[in-house]
Amino acid sequence: MKKRVAIICGGRSSEHEISCTSAGGVLSAIDRNAYEPVLIGISKSGKWFLLAQDHPLSINGTTLPTVPETGTAVTLGVDGFSAAGANLNIDIAFPVLHGPYGEDGTIQGLFEMADIPYVGSGVLASAVAMDKSFAKPIFASHGIKVAAGFVVRANDWQKDRAAIQSAADQLGYPVFVKPARGGSSRGTTKVKSASEFAAALEEAHRFDPKALVEQEIRGFEIECAVLEIKGEVKASLVGQIKIDAKYEFYDFEAKYLDGATTIELPAPIDQKVSDEIRAKAIAAFISLGCSGLARVDFFLTPNNEVIINELNTMPGFTATSVFPKMWEATGVSYSQTVTHLLQAALTRNNAVLRN
Ligand SMILES: Nc1ncnc2c1ncn2[C@@H]1O[C@H](COP(=O)(O)OP(=O)(O)O)[C@@H](O)[C@H]1O
Ligand SMILES: [Mg+2]
Repeated sequence: MKKRVAIICGGRSSEHEISCTSAGGVLSAIDRNAYEPVLIGISKSGKWFLLAQDHPLSINGTTLPTVPETGTAVTLGVDGFSAAGANLNIDIAFPVLHGPYGEDGTIQGLFEMADIPYVGSGVLASAVAMDKSFAKPIFASHGIKVAAGFVVRANDWQKDRAAIQSAADQLGYPVFVKPARGGSSRGTTKVKSASEFAAALEEAHRFDPKALVEQEIRGFEIECAVLEIKGEVKASLVGQIKIDAKYEFYDFEAKYLDGATTIELPAPIDQKVSDEIRAKAIAAFISLGCSGLARVDFFLTPNNEVIINELNTMPGFTATSVFPKMWEATGVSYSQTVTHLLQAALTRNNAVLRN
């Protein structure tokens, strides 16, 4: 019997469209001899629907794919997924969702309650990785360096602007200001002088009442894909992000506009340094208690210091996204990557009570 896989996409986060594109990739790569995909979309307002398998999920010119609020409603409760009064008999859930409500442990909790195996990290690891203000001290306590910085809550900013401004001045400009639970660089600003700080902080607070202020790390951005293969945590070759010089940093446009960014695979760095990065990617994955997959993003300074930036528990997953590309370069095809993830889900090692 084929396992029925709920591929869930869209969602309430600002990364709705990117999620749809990733789900389109998974749908085209899933091994249909072993698995039967059922496509489920979550609209931007949070309603769940069955989607036809030919629902457009790729970027068409400038039109991004979305989940419409029409069609057969889907519910997920303690008895599992159902639609039109019938149980969908889902064996594995694959939440191809980015950001809040998808990558942050909330939907993972729903799968736990329904006792449905799912792809990716469990409740705790998902929640911790989503919030950089929690993930950073954990990385640091495992000997993985992080950027110096501090947290600013919107209330605190209202109460004592001068103290916060002076703490930023002390870090020294440029600083980066970003939402603690952001994604796709939304709400992130490179602040070059004290006079730009207040506006940047307020911009970050539009996305999250908790913001991070960090010292700028100068160096390359290096990424490493971690995948659980038959119960073992493996790191891919590392890649170096190459951003068109007209962008100040790896911002939203640089990430998603055609041709703005490429990844050099393997990164043109010493073997010793890339081995260190791979080991740190695995250590970071284990430090947060992740399962299935993660993309771990680092900075590499000119004197070969490796500093972790963040860990994404559900990285972009289209056939041309960095995560699948890094595995392809390491010898694992997109379709095999999907199979490894579905197999890892069935071991249930992400379950809170069985970890
Ligand atoms: N401390 C920092 N030093 C240098 N660049 C940074 C720093 N923090 C963020 N950036 C830049 O901003 C981008 C987005 O920040 P990141 O923390 O990765 O947020 P997101 O979760 O939105 O990807 C990074 O890829 C990098 O280009
Ligand atoms: Mg990032």
